Amino acid sequence: MFPHDPDHLLAAVTHAAPFDYYRRQADGPPLRFDAALDCWLATGAGVAAVLEHVDLRVRPAGQPVPAHLIGTACGALFAELARMNDGARHAAAKRKLMKQLAGVDLAGLHADTARLARDHLPGSAQQLNALIFDVPLLAVAQLLGFAPADGPRIAQWTQDVVAALPVTAERASVARAELAASALQAAFSGLRPDADASQTANLIGLLIQTCEATAALLGNSVLALRTCQGPTLAIHNTRRFAACDVQIDKVTIRQGQMVLVLLAGAGLAYGHGVHRCPGQAVAQTIVAAILPAWSEALRSLGLDWHYRPSPNARIPVFTTAGIA
Ligand code: HEM
Repeated sequence: MFPHDPDHLLAAVTHAAPFDYYRRQADGPPLRFDAALDCWLATGAGVAAVLEHVDLRVRPAGQPVPAHLIGTACGALFAELARMNDGARHAAAKRKLMKQLAGVDLAGLHADTARLARDHLPGSAQQLNALIFDVPLLAVAQLLGFAPADGPRIAQWTQDVVAALPVTAERASVARAELAASALQAAFSGLRPDADASQTANLIGLLIQTCEATAALLGNSVLALRTCQGPTLAIHNTRRFAACDVQIDKVTIRQGQMVLVLLAGAGLAYGHGVHRCPGQAVAQTIVAAILPAWSEALRSLGLDWHYRPSPNARIPVFTTAGIA
């Protein structure tokens, strides 16, 4: 271990300089058990092998919904998401999402997003922290058919739902997410009265997937512009759970065990296999439209930064330079 290395792979996500550490991890065995984290780690060639394996699933067997969301509107939404399902249920939802996203007019999205960005210029570090979340969500809300006036509410409700998803979410944030999930469902039912529960949930899922990942890409791109260095990798890892004993690369992952899949260092920023991100072109178009629109406003901001606590997304928190 090098003196400035993160303590472990989860700490690397928000570490100041984790990329050399990731590169060295990728040079190690593709699958190894980490006793401290109590799970398997997939790095380098192990990443694609795990993401391609049909018995390594996105949720633990018998737990389609995290315990703290069972019986809630948020839980009902979660249970329908393509991102959180495997097998036939996933395939049907994913097909629809791919079709919808393949039909996106990227030039139109670029123009609409640039307009939104010009209307929401960051005048301070604090505003920038909010806008890296808000502007991509406003853009996707419009892309999905909402009127510009509906955008801010849709963006806020999405952030409320996302805040309740981690098992560490506090009760107050789960309560806020309940209202938000119901409000989003009502808003989408108004927009697309013919959509069934699964379709509605997966449209909301597009906003959920946009939220932290695109804020991370945008925030890291702002930093890359300022520092002229550093990869802009947004999502560093994902997880899989063994549905039965799985033999892979001469190791056996026992039923129920978790695999932490290190996308960082494997060159798979948008994932791989059946759950691969269908939103890559949308995300990149949004960020590419916002950066030039903000460049002048950003030049006049003196910024320091650290990273938001997160197990998988590297999202900068900007502060005014010189003020702790
Ligand atoms: C820079 C921004 C983004 C990054 C880095 C990113 C990355 C990822 C990754 C790594 C996955 C796979 C997760 C896994 O296999 O466990 C994923 C899934 C997904 N992403 Fe993205 N994403 C981004 C933006 C977006 C946007 C803007 C949308 C929608 C408009 C989107 C929609 C989705 C969906 C629906 C899934 C689930 C796909 C499935 O499970 O089949 N993403 N994303």
